Amino acid sequence: MAGLVPQPSWFVLPCTEISKTLDTVEQVCAAASNAGIDRTGALIAIGGGVCSDIVTLAASLFRRGISHLRIPTTLIGQIDAGIGLKGGVNFAQRKNYLGCFYPPDAVAVIPRLLATLTRDGVKQGMAEMVKISCTSDPRLFTVLEQQTKELIDSNFQLPEAFAKEAIQRAITAMLKELRTNPFENRTLQRAVDFGHTVAHFLEVETAYTLHHGFAVSVDMAFSCVVGWRLGILSFEMAMRVINLLAISGLPIHHHALTEDLIAASFSAAANHRGGAINLVIPTGLGTYAFLKKKSDLGAKLTREVLDWLRQEQERVLVQTATDTVAGNTDYGGFEVSSTRPSFEGCL
Ligand SMILES: NC(=O)c1ccc[n+]([C@@H]2O[C@H](COP(=O)([O-])OP(=O)(O)OC[C@H]3O[C@@H](n4cnc5c(N)ncnc54)[C@H](O)[C@@H]3O)[C@@H](O)[C@H]2O)c1
Ligand SMILES: [Zn+2]
Repeated sequence: MAGLVPQPSWFVLPCTEISKTLDTVEQVCAAASNAGIDRTGALIAIGGGVCSDIVTLAASLFRRGISHLRIPTTLIGQIDAGIGLKGGVNFAQRKNYLGCFYPPDAVAVIPRLLATLTRDGVKQGMAEMVKISCTSDPRLFTVLEQQTKELIDSNFQLPEAFAKEAIQRAITAMLKELRTNPFENRTLQRAVDFGHTVAHFLEVETAYTLHHGFAVSVDMAFSCVVGWRLGILSFEMAMRVINLLAISGLPIHHHALTEDLIAASFSAAANHRGGAINLVIPTGLGTYAFLKKKSDLGAKLTREVLDWLRQEQERVLVQTATDTVAGNTDYGGFEVSSTRPSFEGCL
């Protein structure tokens, strides 16, 4: 935190979904106050998406709003949370329920900072990269399919030229989406909501033990299989997305994803998105459609989609275990089924 005093003051934030609360925002404001920051001062968020969400909200509130800057240290932070306009905290069992639109004064993206991420941290960021590439940058998606293993194994440091380009392209695609609808009031149909309809409920249902990135991955797989079963996304394309998630080591199913959870998520999404669910379903690389009504996806089809995802997840796990035992931990070892599972009368 920097005020008129040249020395910055530091405040180490607890950064988990459980501590992403108004109480923590107050702690940041108290630290800013103790540090003597005036209205010309600034808060600097150095950390992942939880950190920037909390600090952004604190900056928007402190003395009715002071500057803030972000130095995102996670992949999700660098391509998504740190780039956008939003800050927020969890409230009353609802994810990001209290928040603000409050653009940062500057963001410094330093890919080297990703070198210390855990493997899970890298995978979680990969989920958001799959999201934005699928809806908005087909070339990025295609190269990710070829480079997944090296990117993940090297914490997005190698292959050097492409790792940086991938981050840049993901940021560019995200900014392009934000530029036309920064405050989410021009349209409630947003490509960047791909993977973000049932995900938030999954996080809450699992008491945040399922990380945001993993929940987004499950949501994207669900949306793709819905699209395939509704006949608006080809089986091949749905499997390309699912395969990219699987070879990235991301989940495509979670036992908490039930019919009830989906129904609750759809109601909440409709409430948030002007009466329509607006579930984002890719229709190809770089194209997508929006599922509007709950009734577009009947109970029978929902059950079939969930069964298919569960079976596919089990198959991926068996395949991964077999590869590990055989000493073949190559991500490319996961083969996509070429046959179309048969579901009666749901197309
Ligand atoms: N505001 C937005 O537009 C937006 C967009 C996407 C996600 N989000 C939010 O971002 C959050 C997820 O962010 P995240 O994925 O960055 O996770 P995170 O902020 O929860 O960080 C995950 C863990 O990584 C650690 N960490 C951070 N940087 C590290 C580094 N360089 N090396 C090692 N460990 C490091 C953190 O201490 C934490 O334990 C969610 O709360 C989500 O809702 C917000
Ligand atoms: Zn997200």
